[in-house]
Amino acid sequence: MAGSENRMPRHIVRLLLIFVIGGAVALAARYLFQDKSYGIYGTFRGDAVAELAADEPMYKGSGYCQSCHGEQHSEWSAGIHKVVLCETCHGAAEKHRSAKPAAAAALADLPTHPQIAAERQEHVKLAIPADSVKLCTLCHEKMPGRPAAQKQIEVSSHAGAQQCVVCHNPHSPKIAAAGAEQTGKPGDAAAGRKKAAACAACHGADGVSGNPEWPSLAGQQRGYLAGALLAYKDGTRRDPMMGAQAKGLSEADIGDLAAFYASASCKAAGSKSSAQLASAGKAKAAACANCHGAEGVSHNPAWPSLAGRQEAYLANALKAYQSGARQGPMMAALVKGLSDADIGQLAAYYASLNCK
Ligand code: HEC
Ligand code: HEC
Ligand code: HEC
Ligand code: HEC
Ligand code: HEC
Ligand code: HEC
Repeated sequence: MAGSENRMPRHIVRLLLIFVIGGAVALAARYLFQDKSYGIYGTFRGDAVAELAADEPMYKGSGYCQSCHGEQHSEWSAGIHKVVLCETCHGAAEKHRSAKPAAAAALADLPTHPQIAAERQEHVKLAIPADSVKLCTLCHEKMPGRPAAQKQIEVSSHAGAQQCVVCHNPHSPKIAAAGAEQTGKPGDAAAGRKKAAACAACHGADGVSGNPEWPSLAGQQRGYLAGALLAYKDGTRRDPMMGAQAKGLSEADIGDLAAFYASASCKAAGSKSSAQLASAGKAKAAACANCHGAEGVSHNPAWPSLAGRQEAYLANALKAYQSGARQGPMMAALVKGLSDADIGQLAAYYASLNCK
């Protein structure tokens, strides 16, 4: 029969049937399972855009911290580390939000108001990096492949076992720059010489003291001298004799006196102790060389030279840092581990050096 000869072969019919059913299932799936917002903006779920936009960003940026941590933010933004974002060291600030630190302390005493309680619960503390060696060496440890422009140190010779934050402020770590800022404008040495008459009784006519417990000032760093006088004047460095002396000095007087003494030629006090004691001190002074110079003459105008200063004065100064009677954040951490014997050796060593 002609009709039956023209019919499609059965396997083709089955194949077409499979295609049709497959298409119908795909269409049904398209309507049943696909999100309604698919395709609004292209080949993804349109609603996702709004959902992502509503998400709180994990990283807030350093500007976010300014309103509550103004002090850290201003140190940081004025210093060399402003290229390192706050959250690089402290972690994402996503849920770190609350009243300003001072207000937070006050809030803690309030009876629990539900809204305050909820806000406090949402607030997540950020960590203060506990191990600064681990943190700082991520970027600053000496490595052959590291670009030289990124300053590098060998931890063992640079810091020993100390934490980096003993000497470096993590928010503004450049030490030399921090010192130079305190130096102030130079005073007038000739005017200073006249004003120094009042000081001669104790510090010597030319700034070389004859008393083993009173410091020579001649040849000392200018910025350091000015800083010391300001500290006596405002009471942050206490000494009954100097407190009275500095009270009446104006800032101009201080600048002039510092200029005079810094320019006066020094005379090493010398050490009365044995050469053996001094050489034992030399071995221990490696830890001091970064700041006070390899030969006891500081390269930073804001930090004191120690070479040729009075032995008893040096020893007393170290003990005063130890007891807290004298404040100096850099020195305080360093003297913690010194024994009386160490102090004697270090003082003998520095006193024996030539002050140049
Ligand atoms: C709305 C105010 C606010 C903002 C903005 C803020 N903080 Fe805080 N932060 C606080 C309060 C309050 C504390 C007190 C301790 C606590 O509850 O976490 C604190 C504590 C900290 C601490 C721990 C200090 C300590 O002594 O324990 C660090 C580190 C810190 N914040 C870093 C940051 C950084 C980095 C940013 C910016 C990304 C930032 N904070 C933004 C309010 C704020
Ligand atoms: C290079 C890493 C680093 C960066 C960048 C950094 N911090 Fe810190 N921050 C530290 C370390 C380390 C400490 C702990 C200091 C210490 O123990 O003396 C600290 C301490 C703090 C503290 C506790 C109080 C204090 O001063 O000791 C606050 C608050 C703080 N940082 C906020 C900030 C803010 C805000 C920024 C950005 C403007 C920032 N930090 C940037 C490493 C960093
Ligand atoms: C994420 C990397 C990073 C971390 C972590 C970091 N720094 Fe830095 N640091 C830098 C960069 C980058 C510079 C250089 C900025 C420039 O030259 O403008 C720098 C600059 C410095 C400088 C100044 C160097 C100079 O030019 O004299 C010192 C010092 C320093 N960092 C110490 C520290 C200390 C201490 C820590 C730990 C608290 C630390 N850094 C953590 C990246 C980092
Ligand atoms: C005992 C104090 C002290 C300690 C601890 C210390 N530093 Fe320093 N660091 C200094 C001094 C001083 C300088 C030199 C400052 C200058 O000459 O400008 C310096 C310079 C640097 C520089 C710049 C080097 C260069 O080539 O210009 C880097 C980077 C640095 N330190 C990182 C660190 C790191 C990281 C740590 C912790 C592992 C650390 N420091 C611990 C005192 C210290
Ligand atoms: C009555 C004695 C006396 C007189 C007068 C005196 N000083 Fe002093 N001065 C001392 C003593 C003692 C110290 C050590 C105090 C201490 O340990 O902090 C000292 C310390 C200093 C220092 C710190 C030195 C250092 O290495 O840290 C300076 C700077 C200084 N005097 C300047 C002056 C000036 C300038 C005058 C005159 C306006 C003056 N002094 C007058 C007794 C005196
Ligand atoms: C990170 C830098 C740094 C290091 C390292 C350091 N010092 Fe100092 N030192 C200072 C600064 C800054 C002052 C001035 C502090 C002040 O104003 O009281 C100071 C002051 C002193 C003084 C008092 C000087 C005077 O004229 O009154 C003595 C003594 C001293 N240091 C001894 C040492 C000895 C010893 C070591 C090593 C064991 C050492 N320092 C390591 C920074 C440092």
